[in-house]
Amino acid sequence: MNMGKPLSSPMLSYQHAYHAGNPADLHKHLVLAGLLTLLTRKTRGISYMETHAGRGLYDLSAPESLKTGEATEGIEAVSLPDCPLKTALDTARKRFGAAAYPGSPLIAQTLLRKQDRLHLMELHPAEYGALRKALRNATTAVHKRDGFEGVLALAPPRPRKGLVLVDPSYEVKTEYAQVTDFTHKLIAKWPEATVMIWYPILPARRHEALINGLKLKYLRHEVSFDLKDGEGMTGSGLVLVNAPYGAEKGLAEAVELAQPVLRL
Ligand SMILES: C[S@@+](CC[C@H](N)C(=O)[O-])C[C@H]1O[C@@H](n2cnc3c(N)ncnc32)[C@H](O)[C@@H]1O
Repeated sequence: MNMGKPLSSPMLSYQHAYHAGNPADLHKHLVLAGLLTLLTRKTRGISYMETHAGRGLYDLSAPESLKTGEATEGIEAVSLPDCPLKTALDTARKRFGAAAYPGSPLIAQTLLRKQDRLHLMELHPAEYGALRKALRNATTAVHKRDGFEGVLALAPPRPRKGLVLVDPSYEVKTEYAQVTDFTHKLIAKWPEATVMIWYPILPARRHEALINGLKLKYLRHEVSFDLKDGEGMTGSGLVLVNAPYGAEKGLAEAVELAQPVLRL
């Protein structure tokens, strides 16, 4: 999944624009939108944090997206019925045009309310600049900072009820162990946080070490899909720590909503 020019760190060569709207995004974003809806059933505000935010807004007619064609095998291959992700997608397309696709930060900003707060970490200079331009407002803070370090430094935020999305690019093998270690440290500082971890399912199955290392209770959800040039990715997985009531039903619904792309 290393498709851009290397910057100072190998981890910053990944650019999500090549993959936006692919089957893995569809899985992650359907579940994320559903979780945010569950967490905002009460009027009290929540905090939403991301360790690896990306640029927040993608253009599926851009050369990067056309080059891989991954969105045609994901979001463009489904007809979403009414659901929280469809609300975020329609809102993005009304504002930014028919080829727009919202990344996780924009999905969250669309579904959250004025009493909620967002803290988004992104280290890549160009991605950070684009994210800040698209999303920064009175309720959304955008940080050019290492995601693991930044979220741990701000935890626990106010409001204390909240969700942390952990979505690294896993270009470097050590990121799997880093996610496990980060999650333990985060829960030690902020025990009630809901944590959503995304991982790719690749032939090397490195995600198993991430999961086997977790010393916490969690829900796990995996789907498989076909992706012509997915560099060996055959599926997408999610781990939810402190999942809110109703999350299991939401995980099952995500697969139904994304037929025929996602399979159990
Ligand atoms: C998979 S993408 C994020 C996609 C986004 N969460 C979404 O679903 O729309 C991972 C992002 O992490 C950024 N990144 C890489 N290393 C980072 C680090 N140490 N801290 C914060 N961001 C980082 C990359 O520049 C990239 O934009």
